[in-house]
Amino acid sequence: MCPVCVCACFSNMEKKKKTMNDSIHTGTKSINDEEPVENDSESTTLHVQGVSKVYESPAGTTEVLKDINFSIGMGEFVSIVGPSGSGKSTLLNIIGALDRPSLGKVYIRNIDIFSLSNHDIALMRNNLIGFIFQSYNLINRTSVIKNIEIPAIIAGVEKKERAKRALRLLKLLGIEEKANLKPNNLSGGQQQRVAIARALMNSPAIVLADEPTGNLDTKTGEDVFKLLKSLSARMRKTIVMVTHNSELAKETDRTIFMKDGRIEDEKRN
Ligand SMILES: Nc1ncnc2c1ncn2[C@@H]1O[C@H](COP(=O)(O)OP(=O)(O)O)[C@@H](O)[C@H]1O
Ligand SMILES: [Mg+2]
Repeated sequence: MCPVCVCACFSNMEKKKKTMNDSIHTGTKSINDEEPVENDSESTTLHVQGVSKVYESPAGTTEVLKDINFSIGMGEFVSIVGPSGSGKSTLLNIIGALDRPSLGKVYIRNIDIFSLSNHDIALMRNNLIGFIFQSYNLINRTSVIKNIEIPAIIAGVEKKERAKRALRLLKLLGIEEKANLKPNNLSGGQQQRVAIARALMNSPAIVLADEPTGNLDTKTGEDVFKLLKSLSARMRKTIVMVTHNSELAKETDRTIFMKDGRIEDEKRN
């Protein structure tokens, strides 16, 4: 995809999505969701090539990522595990274009994301990437439904359409009765569901989750994880999840083990 035509491509992608009417079911819920499936033979959603990250400080330079290389196929659910400080969040932030690599490239759906202008990076991030953070990162002064609509507001989706999408996601995630509450009136598990709904709002190519169960008790964490797993299995969402929980990691399609800024091992589960 040519960086110059990135906006037009996104709008074509939206049109394609609208024509899809794929019924999915998660637990007792079911919705008709537009799947972001392209009709091409390209099945790699993410390709990370030779990524390194160096931080400079008066105390010297620290290399926190060292020549990271891997690819993730469409619909794959990949976990990243490793000790604290091994570079997992830095890597996820670079994949999500929240930070830039010192060296190397990141391709999402064949777009060399750091070759784009800052404006197009912001567009790409809003349209192709859904983020889920450990601490939910919701806006407490506005309602749950408005929180979910934010990525669509940024994308310029018309009011009626974005309310429809948000409501559908609320139902899918089993929190439709919370639509008009402020996020801080919800439990941790419910807040994380809101964050997941927000991440899915623009039907992203890839969902990035940094310790999404880290603030939740074991049972709630497992429920949130099951939800992610069902999104991957039933909606073919491509998901990269950083986790400390090796039991949950084993339940994903593949685990990448990081240590000291390097990929130490990789295992298909
Ligand atoms: N902005 C920064 N400046 C300097 N060092 C940083 C910065 N951000 C992260 N680091 C360092 O990079 C290393 C990796 O951090 P991080 O990616 O957060 O690890 P993890 O998520 O695996 O715990 C840590 O040693 C951390 O202190
Ligand atoms: Mg981290």
